[in-house]
Amino acid sequence: MRQPLVAGNWKMNGSRESIKVLLDGIKDGMGEVNRAAVVVCAPYVYLPGVQARLEGTAVEWGAQDLSIEASGAYTGEISAAMLRDFGCGYVIVGHSERRAYHGESDALVAKKYAVARAAGLIPILCVGETLDEREQGITEEVVARQLDALIELEGVAALTDGVIAYEPVWAIGTGKTASPEQAQEVHAFIRGRVAAKDADVAEGVRILYGGSMKPDNAPELISKPDIDGGLIGGASLKPEDFLGICKAAN
Ligand code: 13P
Repeated sequence: MRQPLVAGNWKMNGSRESIKVLLDGIKDGMGEVNRAAVVVCAPYVYLPGVQARLEGTAVEWGAQDLSIEASGAYTGEISAAMLRDFGCGYVIVGHSERRAYHGESDALVAKKYAVARAAGLIPILCVGETLDEREQGITEEVVARQLDALIELEGVAALTDGVIAYEPVWAIGTGKTASPEQAQEVHAFIRGRVAAKDADVAEGVRILYGGSMKPDNAPELISKPDIDGGLIGGASLKPEDFLGICKAAN
């Protein structure tokens, strides 16, 4: 039985004050969330503050990206070891915004996943097609290519403790959610592709849906057999909305 997971991706949002209010709100509502794992992925500069505020609670924290390098002359980069130093449990890799605005390739994303995992972090591998790709009917081809880059680099066992997030690019921040059927179809495809290599790994890997998930659409999405939770952008910035999704996953 896979443990449901809800991860908030704050992206480049927040201030010390707003994060304090947000985290206090989430902590207050966690009494009703006893089964689902809950994670917040914060901008780097706020990680020490998030760590201090969440220590001893059931809410875990993570980062939104990391470097493939271990240390050294890489100005502006943050390593996996630095993230571990702050007690980070998770890190998002290959978010579509990084692929689109920072030119991250499938191969680079696979390397980031491997580096994170080797350091003891749980990587959340984002995959998903653009609207153009969906309309061309190549959604499965795109998602398979993104997934296969990791499997070819590290072997399917790399997904044993990992997390995949299916985020159709056209549903991110647009208010257009994939229908539960559309999302389930791609989630089942992803699990099937992993199962073709290793059935046990496929059974255990958690596949989250991301893209305009809100408290009102979360229950139906998460009730689908291959949807194990969510990666939440906008709604993760409001305690009541984020908690609503966490309760649905629970
Ligand atoms: P929204 O929930 O704002 O659509 O963002 C989803 C996302 O990109 C999470 O990583």
